[in-house]
Amino acid sequence: VGIEQCQNRKEQTDCACTKRSDHFCCDRARARTTRKIENFPSGALQTNNQTGDQYMAASQIISEDVDSWETLMFLYNSALKEVGTKLDILNDEFVHIHKYNPIEYIKKRIKTPESIVKKLKRDGYEVTVENMVNYINDIAGIRIVCSFTSDIYRLAEMIGKQNDLTVVSIKDYIKHPKASGYKSFHMHVTIPIFLSDRVVDTKVEIQIRTIAMDFWASLEHKIYYKFEGHAPEYISRDLRACAEIVSDLDAKMLQLNEAILEEKAKQEEENKK
Ligand code: GTP
Ligand code: MG
Repeated sequence: VGIEQCQNRKEQTDCACTKRSDHFCCDRARARTTRKIENFPSGALQTNNQTGDQYMAASQIISEDVDSWETLMFLYNSALKEVGTKLDILNDEFVHIHKYNPIEYIKKRIKTPESIVKKLKRDGYEVTVENMVNYINDIAGIRIVCSFTSDIYRLAEMIGKQNDLTVVSIKDYIKHPKASGYKSFHMHVTIPIFLSDRVVDTKVEIQIRTIAMDFWASLEHKIYYKFEGHAPEYISRDLRACAEIVSDLDAKMLQLNEAILEEKAKQEEENKK
């Protein structure tokens, strides 16, 4: 079977092509994928909605790779790079078209093995690599910090429109803040990582917030860390009050920005006359 016939990756089952990185359809790859899908819990394998193709999920790496830990960390790091580049491009395009920079800065991190173990235990899972891959969605985390609340939704929409990226779930803690006062917009996505012989859908958590929200969350995190999650009630109350102040500040800055843009537009109109 020639390469051309490989194009229909969904139907092809008897392809003998060796170029599996481009054509994930040959006998060996398909047999392996099918076997692995049966072996893993539901949800382990992400389906790419755009093409209907079944890509490999990170969890499938575990049973076939002796260095599964290194391979997984390599995948999560690659996923961070991919998402980071996408965001850079979106930001640059925005600057190019609108002369405006929606992203102030981006932070990326890979969860430490200690935090992974802590979270698995906290959530009642046995500490295994398989549970880690299946149940922890924020091993690769990327935080986008923007100037205004409006930028958050604009960016989330732009991210959602990226064809090769699958949005698995969204949590809007801006419309529905947490009891702590925490505000942010969270997206769980998967991004295909193209290796030489396979494509692996890899999970990334994207958090989008304003500078003010980030300021609050960073300080609150530090304070809570000191109390190991058991801060006295009056401190929690004061932190919630601070979250309100931060929200007011965000609203005021957004208003101010809109007023400035309006003024500028007016002035430009005047200058044309
Ligand atoms: P985590 O174990 O905290 O990740 O909980 P989760 O998996 O149920 O997800 P959730 O959406 O609650 O939180 C995800 C991430 O948001 C956390 O890892 C933190 O980075 C951040 N976050 C959530 N709640 C708070 C909060 O009350 N304060 C701060 N500072 N950060 C928070
Ligand atoms: Mg988390």
